[in-house]
Amino acid sequence: MAIVATLLVVVIPLFIPIIVDELLLGKDHHFISWISEHLWKSDTKGYVIGILVFILLLRLLSTLLSILQTKIFVSISKNITYQMRVSLLDHLKKVSLKEYETMRVGAVTSKLVTDVETIDGFVSTTISKLIVSSLILLFSSVVLLWIHWQLALFILLTNPIVVLFTVKLSRNIGKLKREENRAIELFQSSLSETLELFHQIKAANKETYFFKESEKKAKELKEHSVNYGYKSDAAMKLSYLIFLSGYEVFRAVSILAVAYSDLSVGLMLAIFSYLWVMVTPTQDVINFQYVLATAKAACKRINTIFEMEQEPLPPVRKDPFKGHSAVSIEVRHLYFRYAKGSEDERAKEDNREYILENINMDINAGSKVAIVGASGSGKTTLSNILVGFYPFEQGEIFYNGVSNKEVALSTIRENIYLILQHPKLFNDTMRFNLTLGNAYSDEAIENAIRIAQLGDVIGRLENGLDTLVGKDGIKLSGGQRQRVAIARMVLSNPKAVIFDESTSALDVHTEAKLFEALHDFLAERTVITIAHRLSTIKSAEYIYVLEEGKVVDSGTPGQLLEKDESYFSAML
Ligand SMILES: Nc1ncnc2c1ncn2[C@@H]1O[C@H](COP(=O)(O)OP(=O)(O)OP(=O)(O)O)[C@@H](O)[C@H]1O
Ligand SMILES: [Mg+2]
Repeated sequence: MAIVATLLVVVIPLFIPIIVDELLLGKDHHFISWISEHLWKSDTKGYVIGILVFILLLRLLSTLLSILQTKIFVSISKNITYQMRVSLLDHLKKVSLKEYETMRVGAVTSKLVTDVETIDGFVSTTISKLIVSSLILLFSSVVLLWIHWQLALFILLTNPIVVLFTVKLSRNIGKLKREENRAIELFQSSLSETLELFHQIKAANKETYFFKESEKKAKELKEHSVNYGYKSDAAMKLSYLIFLSGYEVFRAVSILAVAYSDLSVGLMLAIFSYLWVMVTPTQDVINFQYVLATAKAACKRINTIFEMEQEPLPPVRKDPFKGHSAVSIEVRHLYFRYAKGSEDERAKEDNREYILENINMDINAGSKVAIVGASGSGKTTLSNILVGFYPFEQGEIFYNGVSNKEVALSTIRENIYLILQHPKLFNDTMRFNLTLGNAYSDEAIENAIRIAQLGDVIGRLENGLDTLVGKDGIKLSGGQRQRVAIARMVLSNPKAVIFDESTSALDVHTEAKLFEALHDFLAERTVITIAHRLSTIKSAEYIYVLEEGKVVDSGTPGQLLEKDESYFSAML
């Protein structure tokens, strides 16, 4: 289609010599006499109109073909970008939590949006342009060489130099544009951070400082915009001047060719037309390398996402949870430390401290166990490992007697539910926040609401379950958010549950009611409770005491109390 569409328009200037030389100047009538013999007889007016109609038809046909061609190219490129995004999302889905903790969300999203867009532009516009432009250049060159080869050679050799100049100028403008874009980005991120932390900023009485920062960024933006604004205009005018000068030179040389060689006036005018036709394609071909460079850079940036480490999958995969209503967990000589953060840190020697050291635990199926310890002793870290958020370096955990080396982390998470210390809510309805998009029956939802003591809370919301909870559940209190997390757990019906201070924000009264309601639900299941409050753990069958990442003591509440009352005196 591109070839035919191009051919149709490239022949159009060839009608000029026919009209000028044969009809106006009355030179030899090769073509016109052929038409009058074979097609139809007419006068000058008739031939001009006839040729006009024919040219218009050619243009119409060429446009239709190029529309079709664009349609095909666009659908190819959109398909490519869609596939790219799908495989990027698929990779991100499986990225390990360890990678996630060091990733910059903004950078990832910008790769998925902007860089993929760049490649889209490259495929849909640049490549199709390159094809069409090369064809136009090729055909025009052939025609020019056929008309007058000396003149054609001169034009073909010097034209790229002229265009190169104009491209160079526009590239500098591109740099200015990038600086302006960066200034916009800085202003935007400063403003959005200020607005995001507005509450915090007000609390610290720092409005003036933070808004001043945004104002500074706005000023920088203004300076860059002024710079870009007039310089880009100047450059555009300059490059046009260069182009026009080149055009004038070619024109002068062509007139000389008419004067001193056998070139006819009509053919000279045709050459002028081809000069115009060739300008944009030449620019496109020269620009191609720059666009190719940006597309390559975008590819490189996108590949960094594919390089992100994924959650390891064990070679043999078993499901130790199938057919059991509860889970036994045995921890053997577990050592763990967090991944290194920045690239610099990764390059350095490995001297990170172990967050967990030589942890040993025996948690029977269906038992109720508590973990206590000072803030920072590693309780949350340990529970994250037990539910399969992080792979660990040394040691082993047996779930129902099966080693963690034979169980996929996702299988562990499906069966052991960790209620996060700081549950996150979606800016969606209460219902979505409870079900997370799973289809549960109304009875199941009501049951979860009843157990989690959320009945009153939802009753007071204006639209009940369909009320939007605001950004990160801003419309709910801390304790209400914790109860939403507990209701989520009840709905997901796990075989073991870990409460990581999941009721810390509740008053003692509500907490007691909650655990009473949970009693039957938890009866068969394995339960691990982490808490600072004695009332929360006193019903535990066995307690582990964690200190600086090590289990320093363990026993039944009675045994521990006998040994050292200080564990609990701090809590009371
Ligand atoms: N994602 C992380 N990356 C690196 N270090 C971490 C990370 N999370 C926690 N730590 C470190 O691990 C140690 C244990 O943290 P953890 O959250 O497990 O303590 P905790 O016992 O749950 O404390 P708290 O009672 O305050 O919740 C801390 O020193 C903390 O700085
Ligand atoms: Mg914690």
